[in-house]
Amino acid sequence: MMFRCGRGLKLLTLVVLIVLLYAATQQYLFESFLRRRYITFDDFPKAYSNALKASTADNTPLEYDYNTFPPSTNASTLIPPTIHFIWFRDLYAHQLDRPDHPSHIPHEGSSAPQLCIEHNPSFTVNVWNATAARKLLEDHYSWFLPTYDNYRYPIQRVDAFKYFVMYHYGGVYMDMDVACRRSLIPLLQTPGWFPKAEPFGVNNDLFAARQGHGIMQMMIERLESRDWNLIFPYVTIFWSTGPQFASDMVRRWYSKGWAKRYNAGDSKQDSDADAFYTLPPEFYSEKYTFFGHSPGGTWHGEDVAVVLWLVDRPWVLLLLAAASTTPFMIVAMRMRRLRQETFKV
Ligand SMILES: *[C@@H]1O[C@H](CO)[C@@H](O)[C@H](O)[C@H]1NC(C)=O
Repeated sequence: MMFRCGRGLKLLTLVVLIVLLYAATQQYLFESFLRRRYITFDDFPKAYSNALKASTADNTPLEYDYNTFPPSTNASTLIPPTIHFIWFRDLYAHQLDRPDHPSHIPHEGSSAPQLCIEHNPSFTVNVWNATAARKLLEDHYSWFLPTYDNYRYPIQRVDAFKYFVMYHYGGVYMDMDVACRRSLIPLLQTPGWFPKAEPFGVNNDLFAARQGHGIMQMMIERLESRDWNLIFPYVTIFWSTGPQFASDMVRRWYSKGWAKRYNAGDSKQDSDADAFYTLPPEFYSEKYTFFGHSPGGTWHGEDVAVVLWLVDRPWVLLLLAAASTTPFMIVAMRMRRLRQETFKV
């Protein structure tokens, strides 16, 4: 009996190991694909790369004449000089106003849009509010309204609207707590990009695309089928509209055969209007980052949804605490029993 049980367990372990190995291999291939699509210094004009490196080394403002960026032969395949922010004022107001939810989550805007205007005087900078956002959907994507209006967490509406506004107009999307540090013109020279998330996938707090980009189209079309309720707010937001959704869409794009096309020589000179790239950490969050962090605007984060959800369900914290200590208790009990058995012998 014990023997057969052991064999079943071994088989199960083997199957689990094979599945994990397969998933890890797929993830590894996807990650290396994302790295091969990195925007690098070689994608900028040499003079610009040198000026950027020099200004970073000396910590001085970057001096560069952006008019020298090669004029595009086909501007419609490139990212337009537009920045979109989304600010749904008092997103959680109806919950925060309840007397049993004393909270001080800020509801002022952030200085991020102003900083972006200062560094990009030739750009159009839009800050979308809830009314204007719903109006755009009503006018052009009314098929999505039932999903949009019924999202459980308001932040899902912000996430979903990002993809619609980027499909509709194109440009650079930035969360309210992401700020500009210098001109974004060097980052407009491709049909689109997502920043690389560490360790896996891509982020959705900042991304760029030409108007009508194929990935954006796929994303808006698949939001409805991803509207899952995974019980916990963070997990639900992450998978239905957030970074996991964005990463899965990029991966889907990759598995549809795009990767094969680009792997042939890893050429970035392709003029394909639906090509996309990845923004490496060095330009996204590290040494040569184009972006900074602007305080304020974080009110709309997933953390608010999580906090509010937990305030209504304090017992979940108890359960989580119990669940996290259980393995230690079991090990401790086993060890005690083991010691007792040793003594018996
Ligand atoms: C929302 O944005 C629109 C368009 O920018 C503007 O006309 C309107 O006044 C804004 N509404 C609120 C409540 O701020």
